[in-house]
Amino acid sequence: MIGITKVYPIGVVANDSASLSVRKGEIHAVAGENGAGKSTIMKVLYGAERAEGEIFLGGKKEEITSPKVANALGIGMVYQHFMLVKEFPAYQNIFFGIEETDRFGVLKKKEMLEKAEELCKTYDMPIDLDEPCGNMSVSNAQKVEILKVLARGADILILDEPTAVLTPQETEQLFRQLRLLKENGYTVIIITHKLKEIKELCDRITIMRAGKTVGTYNVAVISEAEISRLMVGRDVATEIPKKECRAGDVVLEVKGLSVKGKGEKLAVDHVSFRARKGEILCMAGVEGNGQREVVSAITGLSSAYSGDVLFEGKPIKKQRIKAIRNRGLVHIPEDRLKTGCDAGSSIRDNLISLDYDKNSVFGFINYKKLNARSLEQMRAYEVKGSLHHKMAMLSGGNMQKVIVARELENDPVLVVADQPTRGVDIGAIEAIHKKLVEIRDEGKAVILISADLSEVFRLSDRIIVFHEGKITAEISDVSSVDEIRLGRYMLGLETMEANDDET
Ligand SMILES: Nc1ncnc2c1ncn2[C@@H]1O[C@H](COP(=O)(O)OP(=O)(O)OP(=O)(O)O)[C@@H](O)[C@H]1O
Ligand SMILES: [Mg+2]
Repeated sequence: MIGITKVYPIGVVANDSASLSVRKGEIHAVAGENGAGKSTIMKVLYGAERAEGEIFLGGKKEEITSPKVANALGIGMVYQHFMLVKEFPAYQNIFFGIEETDRFGVLKKKEMLEKAEELCKTYDMPIDLDEPCGNMSVSNAQKVEILKVLARGADILILDEPTAVLTPQETEQLFRQLRLLKENGYTVIIITHKLKEIKELCDRITIMRAGKTVGTYNVAVISEAEISRLMVGRDVATEIPKKECRAGDVVLEVKGLSVKGKGEKLAVDHVSFRARKGEILCMAGVEGNGQREVVSAITGLSSAYSGDVLFEGKPIKKQRIKAIRNRGLVHIPEDRLKTGCDAGSSIRDNLISLDYDKNSVFGFINYKKLNARSLEQMRAYEVKGSLHHKMAMLSGGNMQKVIVARELENDPVLVVADQPTRGVDIGAIEAIHKKLVEIRDEGKAVILISADLSEVFRLSDRIIVFHEGKITAEISDVSSVDEIRLGRYMLGLETMEANDDET
């Protein structure tokens, strides 16, 4: 790709004469800050966006005018935010748009299922092909997306932040599958913010900044620190300075919480814990071990549980979400598009969505004040965009920053931060981490849910580990365990009681 310039209709220059050169059979990383233009240049390659510049494939100049043309040229892409039809079963999603029908127009279900099964086997991606994609875990939905690309005969795969939504174990699995593809001659282009992953998986890396290409490097000869410097333009701290934890009064008390699961087993099984002022409590665990249900209960999103959840002594159950939020319980939700924001509204309207009551007189809203405050928050959290841009136009990481700003600047008493830095670049991760520590140092409570173990170790004062709906370990001295030990607790290979030296 040579001299790619993409200006979005509202005047945003997303790619500014950027170039990218990828070799056949390599795994090529594309990295850079939020809003650097990574997703855009990939969409241009995939024909989903038109731009100035030239694209050569195997030396031949091509006009990639649509994803259909890209597919025909062997290029496939899995977007940052998935595009599956939730109601359709996996096999139907895999063949969506290229379905086979008999002469009466009836879907050839049997043939499609057989072909899909073949694909699953060849690429080592076992999934339930009859399950509607809306019911699937993210990692399985992602497999469907990849199979969908492979079913179209692609030999160049573009993956936009595929690991942002995966647990460490699922990431390992994905990497095995990608290496398998590479061994079979496929070319993989992967966007990621995780430098460790780049070092582990990729052959070469192209770094982008402000729409331009900074350069392409051999991964073997460039250090993580150098990569981050080239991305952000400054050194990024890997440690966050933290004062000693001074845990105070209990803010949240969970007593004997149980939530029904799909089958006989309880999703949450008589769980009790407390969160205190001035501490960051981490709920660790492999996804799907009850954390999500606990979060729904403690944030008031669901009241389908038995047991008690008390926020500052008062039960959360049956209180309106708005009342709970007004009392200072804020929530950075795991899924930014589903529950985190209204993508069709502007950045400003998303930022001020909690403030209408407090800033209106006889129904007249003081927009001047709210605009000024929104601008200030955008600056503080380095959101790239302008007040009246729709959320949907923002890059993934910038969207996340808007949500984090809205929640953390809402005068919290308790912050429930569920994957707070998912898809956020390393510079902004540093800023969000600092902010969470600052909130804790101000004597507020933070509950952190994170699949990123380095984040867990960097921030937590205390860790409770969930396995199969139960708390299997409580670690009050975080420095006494390492990632391997925590991993064993998370997988249920060890429980704390069994460990004399640590009880
Ligand atoms: N549909 C759109 N309309 C207008 N502007 C857009 C649109 N999509 C992206 N942009 C803007 O283009 C710029 C580049 O966005 P892009 O999504 O390529 O960034 P990115 O490098 O993928 O970032 P991230 O790491 O956050 O995903 C951003 O400023 C973004 O706000
Ligand atoms: Mg992106």
